[in-house]
Amino acid sequence: MNHVRNFLSVYDFSADEIYDTLLRSAVLKEERRKSQSASLAGKKIGLIFEKSSTRTRVSFEVGIVELGGHPVFMSSRDLQLGRGEPVKDTAMVLSRYLDGVIIRTFGQERIETFARYFEKPVINGLTDLYHPAQILADIFTVYEIKRKPEAKHNGARALNDIIGDTLKKLKIVYFGDANNMANSWVSLQAMLGFELVLAMPEGFDIDGTVRNESEKRGGKFLISHDKISAAKNADVITTDVFISMGQDEEKEKIDKLRPFIIDGHTVENAKKDVIFLHCLPVHRNEEVAEDVFDRFSAVVFEEAENRLHVQKAIMEKIF
Ligand code: CP
Ligand code: NVA
Repeated sequence: MNHVRNFLSVYDFSADEIYDTLLRSAVLKEERRKSQSASLAGKKIGLIFEKSSTRTRVSFEVGIVELGGHPVFMSSRDLQLGRGEPVKDTAMVLSRYLDGVIIRTFGQERIETFARYFEKPVINGLTDLYHPAQILADIFTVYEIKRKPEAKHNGARALNDIIGDTLKKLKIVYFGDANNMANSWVSLQAMLGFELVLAMPEGFDIDGTVRNESEKRGGKFLISHDKISAAKNADVITTDVFISMGQDEEKEKIDKLRPFIIDGHTVENAKKDVIFLHCLPVHRNEEVAEDVFDRFSAVVFEEAENRLHVQKAIMEKIF
């Protein structure tokens, strides 16, 4: 057993640590244009990816380099892990070479097993259950757009309160599959306390473990099968692909989800200053209408950029 810090879900941070991370992300974003922090100087950080990635891989690798560390990318296809070497053995060996790892894998139990035997910190770069680095980048993007001007003129502690106040008042609506992004919104809601509605078809539900973890922390969310009433007065609307990596392309599942597309009529029912988020990659005209995506594409690509800044802040805390 080891006692190092991990970031396997947002529950590994306190609410204050989430706010600190958002504040630090803003500083790192600003600093990137001028000087750069060397907070990971000399650290060798592994990236073990068992699934494809564009944003997560590149933003973590670039973030490590920008903080003065050295990334070591490993696709599971190139590791003995891909030929059946146990996760436990892989973790015990790699902890002798590396100072930390970022892992993208399938079941949450796989990353938890790795973290148990790896004697250094582990960050979740997406599992079937959660995508915590993405969700902090998403809420950072929301905060950047929705924050009040006075947020710039207070001390750090007061700023945490202001961030909390800004975020707690929001209504966030997620449309689509009950997947790792839906689960990540549920976990973040339990930590920060905004209003969360999940609009999904009858028969779709949040994973039992995710629900229990949220309930234990006093989290509350509503599942709605009515897309338009769910969208009413929303400050943020968001969705994700209907079929996630590792899932079979079931036509029946896509047909059930199709009515939950975010289209112009959905947006009209939200607040006038609503923003749309998408973690990407997007399937235009499947989970979101192309014209809606185009209208909000500046926000979505800012959200993608924010992965870099937020993950640098997470790595500073964890590594
Ligand atoms: N949003 C996201 O995690 O993208 P990638 O799959 O490209 O890493
Ligand atoms: N739910 C998607 C997210 C991709 C970033 C998946 O797991 O494939």
